[in-house]
Amino acid sequence: MKLTLSVIKADIGGFVGHSTTHPEVVAKVREVAEAGKEKGTILDCSVITCGDDIAMVMTHTHGVDAERVHKLAWDAFIAGTEVAKSLKLYGAGQDLLSDAFSGNVKGMGPGVAEMEFEERKSEPVIVFFADKTAPSAWNLPLYEMFADPMNTAGLVIDPSMHDGFTFEVMDVYSGKAILLKTPAELYDLLVFIGATSRYVVRAVYRNSDGEIAAAASTQKLSLMAGRYVGKDDPVLIVRAQSGFPAVGEILEPFGRPWLVEGWMRGSHTGPLMPVSFAQAKPTRFDGPPRVIAAGYQICEGRLIGPNDLFDDPAFDVARERAAHLANFLRRQGIFEPHRLPPEEMEYTTLPKVLEKLKDRFKDVGEPEAKAPGSGEGEVHE
Ligand code: 13P
Ligand code: 13P
Ligand code: MG
Ligand code: MG
Repeated sequence: MKLTLSVIKADIGGFVGHSTTHPEVVAKVREVAEAGKEKGTILDCSVITCGDDIAMVMTHTHGVDAERVHKLAWDAFIAGTEVAKSLKLYGAGQDLLSDAFSGNVKGMGPGVAEMEFEERKSEPVIVFFADKTAPSAWNLPLYEMFADPMNTAGLVIDPSMHDGFTFEVMDVYSGKAILLKTPAELYDLLVFIGATSRYVVRAVYRNSDGEIAAAASTQKLSLMAGRYVGKDDPVLIVRAQSGFPAVGEILEPFGRPWLVEGWMRGSHTGPLMPVSFAQAKPTRFDGPPRVIAAGYQICEGRLIGPNDLFDDPAFDVARERAAHLANFLRRQGIFEPHRLPPEEMEYTTLPKVLEKLKDRFKDVGEPEAKAPGSGEGEVHE
C-alpha cells in the first residue's frame, strides 16, 4: 500500500503580533483534522506550530495533490481563522489569499510539502518547520544531508547510500525545475542552490532506485500575492535511516547556524536558530528565524510522535552562536547586508515608500550607468 505524507501549513493569526499561535486556534485546526480522520479522508494527523505558523502533518492514501486532503487543510485553516478573528489576533487569516477553495491549496497561500512511498519495515521521518524565513533556507542543510560526506558519513560508509542522491531544483520565478545528480553534478548543483534568492530545492531522490528522500514546500507568499503579506515560513519532510541519512546526520547541519532571509518584515538576514517546540517563539526583532524538528515513526499510516528533536542540550551551542550572530547583525540596523539587497526588497513594503520619492530625483550631470546584466555599456574588443 502506497502511503502519502502531506504537510500543509499556514499563518492564520499571530499571538501576540507575529510571535506565536493561540491555543484556541490550534485546537480548532486539530478539531477539524480529527473530524477528517473520522470521515476517513486521512489516516492520521499531527498539528504542530512554529512561531505564528501552524502545520498539519497528515497521512493518507490519496496521493500527492489530492483535492480532498487539500480541502480538509483549507477548511481547518478557515475554521482556525474564524477563531483568530474572534480574538482579534494579529493578521487573522494572513496566508489565506482567496475566499474560495479551488481544488488545491497551492497558489492560495499555504505552503505544501508532500511525498508518496511504500511504508518500510520501520519508517522514521523528520518534519522541519521554520518561521521568519523562505524555502531557500533548506538549500544548505539539504546539500549537507544528501551530498556532503563531511556531514553525512553514510555517503561514504553505507553501501545503500554510496551512489548518492539527485536534487530537484526549482527557479521560483519561472516555476521550472532541473534534476541534478550528485556527486557527479555537485558543482552544477551548487551554482544554483547557492543563489538562495532564486533557486530552491524541491525534492531529493536516491540514485540507486529513485526512491523519494526529501520534499520541501517551495511556495513564496509574496510571488503568489503580488505583494508582501508575510514570510513563507517553509516546511520540509526528510526520510531517515536504512538507505537514507541517519536521524543524527539529518539534524547535524543545524548544529552550526547560518544566515537566511526573512527576519523582521521579511526584509532582513538572520541566523536560523534550531529550537525546541517550547522555544519556537521569535520575539527579539520578531526573530531571529527559528526551526523545529518533529520526528515521527510511521506505523501502518499512524504518526507515532512528534518527538521534539532539537530539545537536546547538544544544540545549545548552536542556539548561543545564533544569538551572538543576531547581536552582530542588529548592530547593522537598517543597513545592508542585515537589510536585504534592493532586488529582494522589491517584494516587501519598501517600494511604496520609494514610489512617493521617485520624482524628487534630479539629473546632476553624471553619466548614467547601465544596469548590470543589460548588456549595454559592456566593452567588446
Ligand atoms: P504591520 O504594518 O502590520 O504592523 O506590519 C509589520 C509586520 O510585522 C509585517 O508583517
Ligand atoms: P510572519 O511571516 O511570520 O507572519 O512574519 C511577518 C513579519 O513581517 C514579522 O516581522
Ligand atoms: Mg504572521
Ligand atoms: Mg510566520
